[in-house]
Amino acid sequence: MRCSVPIAAVFAAGAFALPARVQPRADSDGHSHDTAPWDEGATKDFLIHDSCNATEVTQLRKGLADAVTLADHAKQHILRFGNSSEHYRKYFGDAPSAEAIGNFERIVSGDRANALFRCDNPDGNCNQPEWGGHWRGSNATNETVICPLSYSTRRPLEQLCALGYTVAGSETNTYFGSDLLHRLYHMPAFGEDHVEHFAEGYAGALELAETNSSYATHDSDILQYFALDVYAYDIAVPGIGCAGTVDETASSMETPTSSASTTSTSAQSPSSSVTEPPTPVTAGAANGVTSAPQDCHTHAGGDVHCV
Ligand SMILES: *[C@@H]1O[C@H](CO)[C@@H](O)[C@H](O)[C@H]1NC(C)=O
Ligand SMILES: *[C@@H]1O[C@H](CO)[C@@H](O)[C@H](O)[C@H]1NC(C)=O
Ligand SMILES: *[C@@H]1O[C@H](CO)[C@@H](O)[C@H](O)[C@H]1NC(C)=O
Ligand SMILES: *[C@@H]1O[C@H](CO)[C@@H](O)[C@H](O)[C@H]1NC(C)=O
Ligand SMILES: *[C@@H]1O[C@H](CO)[C@@H](O)[C@H](O)[C@H]1NC(C)=O
Repeated sequence: MRCSVPIAAVFAAGAFALPARVQPRADSDGHSHDTAPWDEGATKDFLIHDSCNATEVTQLRKGLADAVTLADHAKQHILRFGNSSEHYRKYFGDAPSAEAIGNFERIVSGDRANALFRCDNPDGNCNQPEWGGHWRGSNATNETVICPLSYSTRRPLEQLCALGYTVAGSETNTYFGSDLLHRLYHMPAFGEDHVEHFAEGYAGALELAETNSSYATHDSDILQYFALDVYAYDIAVPGIGCAGTVDETASSMETPTSSASTTSTSAQSPSSSVTEPPTPVTAGAANGVTSAPQDCHTHAGGDVHCV
């Protein structure tokens, strides 16, 4: 026997009605472009100032793309594994994952209108030896200067785990992508004055994860360490990575631009009000590196940190 009923007959019988939303719009001209898209005016590309020459622009765009690649994979790793990931627990302890996911996602998809990268030297800081760049802080909070040194030293993400690099034993600014992640977090459009420096060094990062995990998910260095470690393990050298060990942290000097970590006492001011360039800092004797004041800024706790 025949079970099918002609569609027209069903309609005619009023067996069902089309939902209102798909009914033809009798009283409109039907041109959806008459209405501005919800995100009209969005800035989708990172802004690079005219002061950057052609090769600087090319390198900056690649470095920023690397930053996005790192952040995007970090987010994907957390979404896939949550706190069942050993990597997650190593860097973020028992913290809920939403804050880390959000801090990475803002790098991936956040509006880029309020963050400008420039290549001139408006504050004179690039004249100082070893300076790779700096956030302009109170002079222009939405701007970051990338000095010439960066273009000759920062490595591409393709070299992750090569040339002796390890996550524990090398500086986070070895790669342009992670360096720019750090610099993006200084700008309020990406860090919201909430991603700051709390932990000191790699061992300090692991300790913060264990003892004070709600700070780990908005610590600039820990976000970088996590992103580098999971990209290394999942993508660059699958199943192996190049985590390194905490022991090598103290002695290793992998980066071309050395980094001094110094502590200056006291000063309880929030880091958002104090920026590079630094108050004079003393030599980073602790890890045996240069005394040159570099890209320094003040931690939430008042310590001066140079990278
Ligand atoms: C992992 O997350 C679950 C919730 O998804 C939570 O119940 C558990 O305590 C967390 N475990 C650790 C070690 O953080
Ligand atoms: C801001 O500009 C002044 C004058 O050019 C300079 O001395 C100072 O170091 C700059 N501050 C920062 C954070 O770069
Ligand atoms: C752009 O500037 C860099 C310094 O950051 C310089 O080394 C490079 O030669 C310049 N590129 C061109 C094409 O002039
Ligand atoms: C800087 O960015 C913030 C948003 O992050 C915005 O509210 C502010 O207007 C910007 N300031 C300037 C001077 O562009
Ligand atoms: C967690 O870290 C923050 C930032 O360094 C610090 O202010 C706070 O006292 C720490 N809390 C604990 C319980 O250690």
